[in-house]
Amino acid sequence: MIVANWKMYKTQAESLEFLQAFIPQVKTTAPEREIVLCAPFTALGIMFKNLNGSQVRLGAQNVHWADTGAYTGEIAGSMLVEIGVNYVMLGHCECRQWLCETDEIVNLRLKAAQRHGLTPILCVGETKKQRDAGETEKVLINQLRQALVDVDRSNLVIAYEAIWAIGTGHTCEPSQANQVIGLIREQLDNKDIPILYGGSVKTNNIDEIMTQSEIDGVMVGGASLDPINFARIVNYK
Ligand code: PGA
Repeated sequence: MIVANWKMYKTQAESLEFLQAFIPQVKTTAPEREIVLCAPFTALGIMFKNLNGSQVRLGAQNVHWADTGAYTGEIAGSMLVEIGVNYVMLGHCECRQWLCETDEIVNLRLKAAQRHGLTPILCVGETKKQRDAGETEKVLINQLRQALVDVDRSNLVIAYEAIWAIGTGHTCEPSQANQVIGLIREQLDNKDIPILYGGSVKTNNIDEIMTQSEIDGVMVGGASLDPINFARIVNYK
């Protein structure tokens, strides 16, 4: 599974321009490679109408835990489903850092996503300070334990994000990422949950990352904004 996290990039026009260049590049991609574009809310509806039968799926970057209500600035699951969204990213470190997302809130959002038939992509990861203090395992176990209370393990994707590698150009060594993802899998009863790696995935490291035994895919930020680069990542060797 290859997930693009566009963050707060791309207008509707820019998203359509991306699709126009990207879709032909993935025409012959093996159908078992799941391609997910997590675009801004404003672009998702028009993107869905322009997928033209391709295997590309859409993801949102948030969902609220209530079905409707007085929650200014939030988005409900039904609103995402209506416009063709299949996935939703939750617990990204940027939301934890800038929007004060706690594990409890992430848990509520996860359950709401599943209630609406969306597949949540739960992001977990440790900061550089936590890593240096030898706390990686403890931090990840805590995040998983709290975020996954009463969550259906059969409709879930997990993304391990080495926070210190996000947007920095410092990739986690593929073997290191593999080891951490193995650790995450040990915590899960369902060993089939896809676990992705995120953090400075680029065209020049994707092939090696995907050789790792525990890594089921990647979440790509910066390098997913260019259709040709992202197609190269999707079509990893
Ligand atoms: P990056 O972002 O690829 O730009 O490091 C990854 C992410 O935030 O998911």
